[in-house]
Amino acid sequence: MSGIDILLAQPIRPVTVDILRQKFVIHTPYDDNDPDAALSIISPDIRALAVGPAIKVNRVFIEKFPKLELISFYGVGYDVVDVETAVAKNIMVTNTPDVLTEEVADTAIGLMIMTVRELGQAERYLRDGRWLNEGIYPFTQGTLRGKTVGILGLGRIGKAIARRAQSFGLEIIYHGRNRQNDVTYRYFDDLSAMAKACDILIVSTPGGAATHHIVDGGVLAALGPDGILINIGRGSTVNELTLIEALSSQSILAAGLDVYETEPAHPIELMETGRVVLLPHVASASIHTRDLMGELVAKNIVSWFEIGTALTPVPECAHLGA
Ligand code: NAP
Ligand code: 8YV
Repeated sequence: MSGIDILLAQPIRPVTVDILRQKFVIHTPYDDNDPDAALSIISPDIRALAVGPAIKVNRVFIEKFPKLELISFYGVGYDVVDVETAVAKNIMVTNTPDVLTEEVADTAIGLMIMTVRELGQAERYLRDGRWLNEGIYPFTQGTLRGKTVGILGLGRIGKAIARRAQSFGLEIIYHGRNRQNDVTYRYFDDLSAMAKACDILIVSTPGGAATHHIVDGGVLAALGPDGILINIGRGSTVNELTLIEALSSQSILAAGLDVYETEPAHPIELMETGRVVLLPHVASASIHTRDLMGELVAKNIVSWFEIGTALTPVPECAHLGA
């Protein structure tokens, strides 16, 4: 297999390169002085891409590689990949599910507690010397006691969040396009109805057209003035301007976000509302978990060229391969 050319379109993890280098010819044009020129020289020979969200894998990008068989994506949410074009060209697309689920759920719970109990704001209060000078931090309006969590997207990550939240004594309800058969939590087929019935709305759906701005003004109004929004799915799911309005007018209580509509941009108006905890898209970002993701990126490529099947194809590509 040593004659097979693989492109790392962006830096992934050292383990990705270590695995791939043993079996393939690896190209890393981002190390070159002129990455675009380096890419155009090698692109006719590339048979697999290892790529993450730093690159928009659209039709124009895919068509640079006439011999492409596989796009191995570094991440579970692959909304930046034009899967329709890939499928039309019989190109397999893989992602990195499961290996990040527990890490992301841990972060979601951390973000929820930080937001509800204002822990980031309280820490800044201490660091700013205000505990010494002004006295105790004000009691928080938010509490988890007796609350209901509504999960938008009860998939792998949503279920891992639900398990954790349930152990805190919280009631769990959920919304998705389908009822999940392996849980007993109450299902809502309407998102606004679920938002009305919960205190904390946690978003863990994929991005893309189907979920674009589904958390809109109506959903935030249903969440209500004591309601809290947590988003660890994709920024595009929440209408950010409407969220800023809802926070500024106090028609919801607070929000905790790990993802934004146009990352890494994050509107200054969000910070100015005060009642937010903002993380820079770190939910899976431990060395442990990113290495597992990077390993899976490489193992999908190895499996494809060794036995003709991918380990973790995205659902749209499950029919491709041996
Ligand atoms: P998953 O197992 O596929 O779960 C996705 C869930 O979303 C499913 O329950 C699905 O249920 C629901 N869903 C899909 N489309 C929907 C729609 N149009 N309306 C309502 N619900 C919809 O995926 P996962 O592994 O849990 O990952 C979920 C997402 O989390 C990823 O796609 C990614 O965007 C995000 N993520 C973020 C981070 C981060 O760093 N912040 C890290 C990892 C993942 P139905 O099919 O029944 O609707
Ligand atoms: C990472 C993620 O930001 O897996 C996802 O969908 O959003 C995160 O794990 C990213 O994809 C890693 O490149």
